[in-house]
Amino acid sequence: MIQIKNKEELKGMMKAGELAAQALALAGKHAVPGISTWELDKIVDDFVRSKGGHSPCKGYGGFPGHNCFSINEELIHGIPSKRKILKEGDILSCDIVAELNDYMGDNTGTFAVGEVSDEAKRLMQYTKEALFKGIEQARAGNRVGDISHAIETHVKSGGYAVAEKFIGHGIGHEMHEDPEVPNEGKAGHGPRLMPGMTIAIEPMVNSHNRKVNILNDKWTVVTTDGSLSCHFEHTVAITNGEPVIMTLENH
Ligand code: MF3
Ligand code: CO
Repeated sequence: MIQIKNKEELKGMMKAGELAAQALALAGKHAVPGISTWELDKIVDDFVRSKGGHSPCKGYGGFPGHNCFSINEELIHGIPSKRKILKEGDILSCDIVAELNDYMGDNTGTFAVGEVSDEAKRLMQYTKEALFKGIEQARAGNRVGDISHAIETHVKSGGYAVAEKFIGHGIGHEMHEDPEVPNEGKAGHGPRLMPGMTIAIEPMVNSHNRKVNILNDKWTVVTTDGSLSCHFEHTVAITNGEPVIMTLENH
């Protein structure tokens, strides 16, 4: 069942989203050469706790960290590690979920570590644009396929590939709820979007082809050719008017 939220519930989602966004910004600020992803994870977790929230990814399906930090060819689900030290020229995806008062906010940003290549900048630009093309379609009366199609079209227009297997999702009291929100699909198809639905839209984009592997750590998802990948995500509410991004630092 797709959950429809009332005004009060949407306010709860907004508060959780705000916390997740602040935590993501904090991660981005600390994403500099020399820091480990374990340290970043701790900084984020300490912050989220200090605001009365917590990180629901910890222990989710056995995930060992509080949040996911994925570097360069790592697309998603990178495990925080003291051995993963950022260096100049890396791109780092920080996927941060915060739970606050029984509501979830989920967002991701990919950050440049120091100065990065033009190739990396362009991939980040297209992936972020694809997210906003998707958000633009998150309107009552549209269907999920309208979001998927908009993302896919923009990714392909840049010469990039939508990564296989992983998708966005409904979100609320749980991190993953209905509906599924794929990053490719047919306009006019899929579940109808209704006011009060909250969804996480999250384009995951590979430089050259859609294929991914999962490493032996059972989590880290990487491109098969070792090329760069990128991920941006917002939690968004469908309303009677414009889409409302829940994961903004200041509402
Ligand atoms: N934030 C991710 C998502 O968008 C989930 C992370 S996987 C976890 O679905 F195991 F770490 F929770
Ligand atoms: Co998500």
